[in-house]
Amino acid sequence: MSTTHQLLLLPGDGIGPEVMAEVERVISYFNSKSATARFETSTELVGGAAIDRLGKPITDETMAKAHASTAVLFGAVGGPKWDRVPYDIRPEAALLRLRKELDLFANLRPAICYPALAEASSLKREYVEGLDILILRELTGGTYFGQPKEIVTLENGEQRAVDTTVYTTHEIERIARVAFDLARKRRHKVHSAEKRNVMQTGVLWHRVVTETHKVHGAGVELHHILADACAMQLVRNPKQFDVIVCDNLFGDMLSDEAAMLTGSIGMLPSASLGAPDNSGRAKAMYEPVHGSAPDIAGQGKANPIACIASFGMALRYSCNMAREADLIDKAIAGALAQGYRTGDIMQPNMRSVGTAEMGSAILAELQRLTA
Ligand code: IPM
Ligand code: MG
Repeated sequence: MSTTHQLLLLPGDGIGPEVMAEVERVISYFNSKSATARFETSTELVGGAAIDRLGKPITDETMAKAHASTAVLFGAVGGPKWDRVPYDIRPEAALLRLRKELDLFANLRPAICYPALAEASSLKREYVEGLDILILRELTGGTYFGQPKEIVTLENGEQRAVDTTVYTTHEIERIARVAFDLARKRRHKVHSAEKRNVMQTGVLWHRVVTETHKVHGAGVELHHILADACAMQLVRNPKQFDVIVCDNLFGDMLSDEAAMLTGSIGMLPSASLGAPDNSGRAKAMYEPVHGSAPDIAGQGKANPIACIASFGMALRYSCNMAREADLIDKAIAGALAQGYRTGDIMQPNMRSVGTAEMGSAILAELQRLTA
């Protein structure tokens, strides 16, 4: 019997549509190959593209489709064109709405340094070669969602802006459990990063992670680290880390930092997962960590690897297709080993290619691996 997976594609703005086009080629390839699983895709506007055509960054109809799909594949949103739209309907609001309403609290951002790219990192080869860390970012709480969140005008005419960082025991416990579960499938080590020296949310975070570890952390070594020290250690000695778990704001920062260890932010995929329901199915969205890169949009230059690797994560976490997910990772490594490079990872004596050519190189590798 064949399983059908419903994928909602939200390419978005900037380089989003360009990199998503390469993912669609990979999806077609799997549809032509596999007798046991099929993908049905539908595509909707999101972000600035949706503001221009539909007046808001994401419509209720698209949200309903997102709820009903096996997984959402997201490209990127935003760009200078929409810098002046009101805060509530800016392109990024679509992303935050999807994360919040699908309750995608666990954001997995693996930073893996492919051997072929060890020289492309801004760190020396010996620091990054073989690097394999996982940043687990809490995605639906903290500073990005806490209330009040406003700019008010004071009596003296000055303005005052507030963002609120809030966490409850439940929110910290559920992300800590995901960290321990993931670490057990890896190298059994978790670093929990917070700022308990200056933030009450840090104090609670530290306490709840410690308590959760006693109950659910069997076999996992837990370390606590201040988030600023973690940022420093990430460039000083990144290979000491296995899983790093942290709140929404610190996770945003640390994952961009970790991305550069791998050679380029154009390499980093991500998965955002909800809690499994009674049938074991979890809502999920997959997106490259890079943004819409307006400076190179529309030129066919963008690196499609992060978006293709994000589809690989969808196969692993939403479609129960670990073997095919491994194939995608191998095909990416193969294309890199053959010297194919987009501009962001270009090195001397390598083959400089654009988005579609990199897609073709990865597809050719997939064909070779499955021949
Ligand atoms: C990310 C991005 C988003 C975030 C933006 C686009 C809202 O930087 O996914 O890391 O801050 O979460
Ligand atoms: Mg970010």
